[in-house]
Amino acid sequence: MNNNHSSTDHSLAGKVVLVGAGAKNLGGLISRTAGSAGAKVVVHYHADATAPEAEATVAAVKAAGGEAVAVQADLTVVAQVERVFATALETFGRIDVAVNTAGLVLRKPITETTEAEYDLMHAVNAKAAYFFIREAGKRLADGGRVITVLTSLLAAFTDGYSTYAGAKAPVEHYTRAAAKEFAARGISVNNVAPGPMDTPFFYGQETPERVAFHQSQAMGGRLTRIEDIAPIVTFLATEGGWITGQTLFANGGYTTR
Ligand SMILES: NC(=O)c1ccc[n+]([C@@H]2O[C@H](COP(=O)([O-])OP(=O)(O)OC[C@H]3O[C@@H](n4cnc5c(N)ncnc54)[C@H](OP(=O)(O)O)[C@@H]3O)[C@@H](O)[C@H]2O)c1
Repeated sequence: MNNNHSSTDHSLAGKVVLVGAGAKNLGGLISRTAGSAGAKVVVHYHADATAPEAEATVAAVKAAGGEAVAVQADLTVVAQVERVFATALETFGRIDVAVNTAGLVLRKPITETTEAEYDLMHAVNAKAAYFFIREAGKRLADGGRVITVLTSLLAAFTDGYSTYAGAKAPVEHYTRAAAKEFAARGISVNNVAPGPMDTPFFYGQETPERVAFHQSQAMGGRLTRIEDIAPIVTFLATEGGWITGQTLFANGGYTTR
């Protein structure tokens, strides 16, 4: 009997890929990349305002020859996380890869941070990530892959990002535990930690001077791009199956540890 679940099929063709916050920016590119590889893609999105981008991403996957469905949910509500995974199973019959790119950023001094801000930051960045991993562990097929997007701030020593980096940090421990607990079924669990990335998510928190500083700290004097990160997610979802329990820092040398 072969107890080795690590697949020799390293293609995403025909696989079912669920992307949390998969409509736009990094998540959108991950959805489209999976679609181009022939995957069936579940494009989760959150806000009503994101619905058009979710539909555009679904259309792009279909145009590339894949299949796709959009599903709206607030991932801080566990019942809604469950519904997203249930929708994926009802629509496509299985789930092979679950990628969670949902996140919420805040750059604010500790002395000015409110209880409501603390709670929301931890709800999106920690609680949602935990229950996304839990549902993945319950719902993924053997040999599946779970990937969460964290931040290179986990390897930085800086001010202002206490609730953001602080709420992403526990996910490394969720991932380690899940990697051990899901290993018997051949399911790998990892994080990708991008550097400051050229999306609207980043610019809302930073001054032009700080943007210039962040650019100066990475290879080539530029920010991380979504195109730098999507291939790493694809690698973890395909050939990279022997990596599990890890956080991969992808930031052009911006931070390390
Ligand atoms: N940009 C950067 O500098 C940077 C650097 C390192 C890591 N990251 C991480 O990379 C990931 C993607 O970021 P991005 O730059 O591509 O920006 P983004 O598109 O704004 O990604 C954040 C996503 O999280 C979703 N989200 C927020 N609250 C949610 C909730 N309650 N339930 C479900 N989804 C929710 C947002 O959906 P709605 O907009 O519809 O609410 C949005 O799609 C995030 O996890 C972020 O922390 C970003």
